[in-house]
Amino acid sequence: MERIPVFRPHIGVDTLKHLTDALDVGWLGMGATTKEFEERIAAFLGLEGRFVVATNTGTSAFHIALRAAGIGPGDEVITTSFNYVADHQAIRMAGAEVVMCDIRDDNLGIDVAKAEALVTPRTKAIDPLHFAGIPCDMEGVYRLAKKHGLRVLEDASHAFGTEQGGRKLGSFGDITWFSFDPVKVVTSIDGGCVVVGSSEEVQQLHRLRLLGVDKDTTERYKNRRAWDYDVLSEGYRYHLTNIMASVGVSQIKRAAEFIASRQKVCRAYSDAFRGIRGVKVPPTDFTGVSPFIYSLRVLNGRREALIAHLDQRGVEVGIHFIPVHKHRFFASSRRGGMEVTDRVVQEVLTLPLHSLMRPDHVQRVVEGVRSFFA
Ligand SMILES: Cc1ncc(COP(=O)(O)O)c(C=O)c1O
Repeated sequence: MERIPVFRPHIGVDTLKHLTDALDVGWLGMGATTKEFEERIAAFLGLEGRFVVATNTGTSAFHIALRAAGIGPGDEVITTSFNYVADHQAIRMAGAEVVMCDIRDDNLGIDVAKAEALVTPRTKAIDPLHFAGIPCDMEGVYRLAKKHGLRVLEDASHAFGTEQGGRKLGSFGDITWFSFDPVKVVTSIDGGCVVVGSSEEVQQLHRLRLLGVDKDTTERYKNRRAWDYDVLSEGYRYHLTNIMASVGVSQIKRAAEFIASRQKVCRAYSDAFRGIRGVKVPPTDFTGVSPFIYSLRVLNGRREALIAHLDQRGVEVGIHFIPVHKHRFFASSRRGGMEVTDRVVQEVLTLPLHSLMRPDHVQRVVEGVRSFFA
């Protein structure tokens, strides 16, 4: 029996064509195609007066976003333990301290009331995750940030294309960052980007992205190098190459199609599972949600048995996440109570979701879950 993977990238002949065209240009590093990808991201997100800086991963996007926002040694950044460890590592890379907060039981995003209890004079920023593409409590996050003078760096790695109040995430707010890793809705094999509203911070991000070298971005965007340059700040080697960007360009052209196909699968799952006692479906009808994963909650300690049942039917699953406060390296980081996180991480189960799922795949997943609870 053909197994159904949890993730599968959607790479078609269009992507191959973009890739070979980019190779033919002969300028493989960061260049005009990187710029084109940034422009297409800006157009897709509907940005006005906001700017995109593409990077080689989402983790590096967050790292330089923190540095551009002035976060460094002595500062604390609040994020959730229920998140991928990339965020916590990037905060440490910036020299700041990780403070972990619990989540809400509904959207599995940050619990703002609990976050407020963690704020100290050292708290400089908050990094809320839009889990599974579903917006977190944005109003609460920005209210808290305003009250305590915090920067907000939204982790929209799961939510490229998600809307809030009719506007796409990234088109408003403080700083938003995305990942285009191999399994995301839109991939550039590996990649990410930062969206900011300040042209000064864009300049900083450009320097931080490429070893602190001035002029490099403007010249490289023309597929050439600046041979007369100065170094103005700290910097990393986080640029996105033309080759990776060409994959991103091919993918973003089809983003609306990818999102619609995923929404369709998510709706079929939720329709099939809503009536089952013993599970909780995501709290959305997926309108305006760009779903990276479909996260079903399996109650009453039955998740492992369901995983085994699905495995026998050739259905692969994932678990997002192991909470970061349980990892040895972060076990001593400051945190609040983790009552909801500790329960939810026993329940979450990521079901197969990608843009190439055939109706019989969806049916096999649905039947697999239903037969377990029958
Ligand atoms: C929630 C979350 N944050 C951060 C990241 C890091 O992104 P990247 O893998 O592109 O560095 C990912 C992707 O793995 C993610 O899913």
